[in-house]
Amino acid sequence: MRAIPNRRYVTTACTAPGPVGQSMLGSFGAIRRNPLAYLDSVWRTYGDVVQFPVPKPPSYLVNDPDGVRSVLVTNARNYGKSTIQYSALSLVTGEGLLSADTAEWKRQRPMVQPAFHRETLTTIVSHVATAAERIIDDWNALPEGSVVDIDAAIMNAALEVVGHALFGSDLSTDADALTTATLDALDVVIARARVPITPPAWVPTPGNRKLSSSVAALDRAVHSMLDSRGVREVPADMLDLLITARDDEGHALTETEIRDQVVTFIVAGHETVASALTWTFALLAENPEIMRTLQAEVDAVLGGNAAQFADYQRLPFARAVIDETLRLFPPAWLITRNSLGDDVLGGYEVPEGSLIIMSPWLLHRHPGIWANPDRFDPQRFIDGDIDRSAFIPFGAGPRQCIGRDFAYVEAVLLLASLVAQFDVEFPAGENCPPAVPLVTMRPANGLHLRVRARSGA
Ligand code: HEM
Repeated sequence: MRAIPNRRYVTTACTAPGPVGQSMLGSFGAIRRNPLAYLDSVWRTYGDVVQFPVPKPPSYLVNDPDGVRSVLVTNARNYGKSTIQYSALSLVTGEGLLSADTAEWKRQRPMVQPAFHRETLTTIVSHVATAAERIIDDWNALPEGSVVDIDAAIMNAALEVVGHALFGSDLSTDADALTTATLDALDVVIARARVPITPPAWVPTPGNRKLSSSVAALDRAVHSMLDSRGVREVPADMLDLLITARDDEGHALTETEIRDQVVTFIVAGHETVASALTWTFALLAENPEIMRTLQAEVDAVLGGNAAQFADYQRLPFARAVIDETLRLFPPAWLITRNSLGDDVLGGYEVPEGSLIIMSPWLLHRHPGIWANPDRFDPQRFIDGDIDRSAFIPFGAGPRQCIGRDFAYVEAVLLLASLVAQFDVEFPAGENCPPAVPLVTMRPANGLHLRVRARSGA
């Protein structure tokens, strides 16, 4: 065990290095402006395990690769999801799979898993094709070399794909209402997270009123959708798969449980994929030689045709480009847990009841793990000379992302469909926008790139 220099705390015992009370007080503004930049600075100052001088709960940033692995994988049963991050999210997602704590999650996960089986993945391909065609038509209709907001286009496409996967191709008004209400409610939760003191959800502030009316709209839309749909003989989309799911004792998910999963899929499966693809385009615009390698692969595999499911396996460089983007700009930049018993992480004692903060962004830039960590180099994923256990864009262990394959198929095929047709570049004098850590990692004010149809495409 390492010795810690004495520091003054309010009530929490000091077990790991970290900022002292005074410098912490001065940091609140910085945390609010950019929590990730703050975490990065304390990691670089104090090391792989940092304790924050807050009274309760004892709070630690863990960026020690073995420590993160222990929390998420090898000692995962010692950690739960009762954290501020997940309780804020649960205002929208209820007890859906992402925010559910261990007991509830154990029951749900096997019931939800079939919604992500291979058949779902194959149907995503046609939804991706529809979304890609819309973008291609839009961009082709613009004057040559126009500047477009890639972020906005990709956000719409990702919402369309997850919406179609969930509710089928014939999106009803209920599906639209549900999606809009989900995103409205999420906006309130994000706004709440940016203010240091938030009134409880029952205080009728404008934000809370918007939250409760969005949640009520969500409930109405799900109720009416389930009412009109019933149980279909052959499940046609992910909602059907949730409706027909049964646990070991033959029980179905309740209406509320189905609502919570549907909302969770929209929240977890929309902005994450969009964020990954948006940053991919930013990095490709900055690295034209990597774009040329990617386009050579895509041209050889697609040969001018629309992408099929089988093409996914035949695009290893496109997958490496997505992986390298997920390394540098992991959409889920923060993962939190609460400890259920004492543990030792990175050589420091961490008591029961602690808040553990981990950040794929920081771990993916750890110089002890990654050679040239700040360099965009997809080839590292092809060469395979990397420590996969320190690559956690989808988390790791039992709570790893259930939508991982969904996300890969969507991102790789949408990327391939678009770069087959277009080149992208930053307008003169502009470069990669700053990353803003919101629910996911987003570019400040969108991503504005010049798109040019490739000659012969
Ligand atoms: C690039 C895209 C995506 C990224 C980066 C991502 C990231 C993550 C991460 C880091 C976790 C684990 C959180 C934790 O351990 O606390 C997670 C869990 C989850 N994700 Fe994703 N995700 C993506 C796409 C999707 C998609 C497309 C869906 C669904 C359509 C989805 C649904 C979920 C769900 C339901 C969970 C909870 C799983 C469980 O606890 O059993 N995600 N995701």
